[in-house]
Amino acid sequence: MNKTYDFDRPSVETGERRESCSQLETPLFTALVEHANKNPIQFHIPGHKKGCGMDPDFRKFIGKNALSIDLINIAPLDDLHHPKGIIKQAQELAAIAFGADHTFFSVQGTSGVIMTMVMSVCGPGDKILVPRNVHKSIMSGIVFSGAAPIFIHPEVDLNLGISHGITPESVKRALEQHPDAKAVLVINPTYFGIVGDLKRIVDITHSYGIPVLVDEAHGVHIHFHHELPLSAMQAGADMAATSVHKLGGSMTQSSILNIQGSLVSKERVQMILSMLTTTSTSYILLASLDTARKLLATEGRALLENTIRLAEQTRSQINEIDDLYCVGHEILGTDATFAMDPTKLVISVKNLGITGYEVEKWLRDEFNIEVEMSDLYNILCIITPGDTEEGLQKIVYALKELSIEFKHQANFNVEASVFLPEIPALALTPRDAFYAQTEAIPFEESAGRIIAEFIMVYPPGIPIFIPGEIITEENLLYTKKNIEAGLPVQGGEDYAMKSLRVIKEHHAIK
Ligand SMILES: Cc1ncc(COP(=O)(O)O)c(C=O)c1O
Repeated sequence: MNKTYDFDRPSVETGERRESCSQLETPLFTALVEHANKNPIQFHIPGHKKGCGMDPDFRKFIGKNALSIDLINIAPLDDLHHPKGIIKQAQELAAIAFGADHTFFSVQGTSGVIMTMVMSVCGPGDKILVPRNVHKSIMSGIVFSGAAPIFIHPEVDLNLGISHGITPESVKRALEQHPDAKAVLVINPTYFGIVGDLKRIVDITHSYGIPVLVDEAHGVHIHFHHELPLSAMQAGADMAATSVHKLGGSMTQSSILNIQGSLVSKERVQMILSMLTTTSTSYILLASLDTARKLLATEGRALLENTIRLAEQTRSQINEIDDLYCVGHEILGTDATFAMDPTKLVISVKNLGITGYEVEKWLRDEFNIEVEMSDLYNILCIITPGDTEEGLQKIVYALKELSIEFKHQANFNVEASVFLPEIPALALTPRDAFYAQTEAIPFEESAGRIIAEFIMVYPPGIPIFIPGEIITEENLLYTKKNIEAGLPVQGGEDYAMKSLRVIKEHHAIK
């Protein structure tokens, strides 16, 4: 059971008292609607002009309301690049709700804010401590900034075939060896809902005067319920890239960047975010951030209470099904599995003798059920305030049928094993590898060479190879296993994965 954090967790009400504005207000959304209701004659982009200049089928489908607020940064509507009006007010309310000193809105997903975080603190040659199981956007930020990643081994779960977080001890060891690092980056929680002891990691890192950046793509909601793990801001981290769109009720692609403390410069963050952001920012996405914040701040606790209850009930029911295992609080207790988000249902299917991907496809074909993700050994279902008891009963029923259907091939009482390869060694910085002279060579002949491209399974988007790493037979085998299982292996120039792009070797001329 996660410990509860009522004492550590700054409440939204405290924030409300600090600034005399209400979390029930939605300054950005309300102003947009008022503007649309005035029905101005528009001589500005977007050229569809409230939908009148677009394909009628699309207009009918999307609807007048959405099209009337698909607007642009004209003076009354503020500008995300220099917020002074309604966007500034909406960001201020979000900062109070998330316990941050400042919140930046993003229309470039969490990927955009992750790159901003890395580029705000690292320049060419600067060291950044990162777990190796990071999302590709962190590696993109590292390539763009020219930073040198110092990888920390995440704790590997050989039962589930997944990686968890990094431990305070490993961060301590890494900082002892690299006290000149410019930042430590932590994933909190992981895609699978597991967290390490973020507060201790923050304390250790701060004792070196170094900022902690948090990939909080899967943790927007955790700030709002005391039974969920501590959020980045609650744990004292300096920056957090948070996907409101994933689990917080805003529209796809809308995210926030929270910052606090004196180790990062708000002005530099704003400048870099602006460099990486389109000048044509979607007001539909921005308004959805404003309204998602309102719902989380004012009703989040009650909504999450029900979500946690539904998820726990479903977890117990799945655990009664033969040959399936839905991960629960029993996996807690190591430094890397300090707490968990119970709204994630990680279901291990390996004892049925089929892959997670086969289960994903079977659920789609037989029951019209779409899961969040699958891998070789598991499927992942996310439970949010958008779920109903009825929907959850359907997945439990479908999983019971699955267990019966595949019973004949289940590994009776034999624990199926998982294969997770070693992390390859890094020979060049990702940026040097990315910009080096390269050549494409056959996949089968690439072991021992330095790779120049990212190879990953998406989702979750965690690279098997990053530019600069030495290709190993074991990692090639793992890549092949994923391809053969039908999983979406991506990133390489050659979609068919028959060849890999590697650093060119220069041989002496005979
Ligand atoms: C751990 C992690 N970080 C970052 C991201 C990027 O988020 P976004 O899709 O909002 O760009 C993802 C997306 O899947 C993720 O899983």
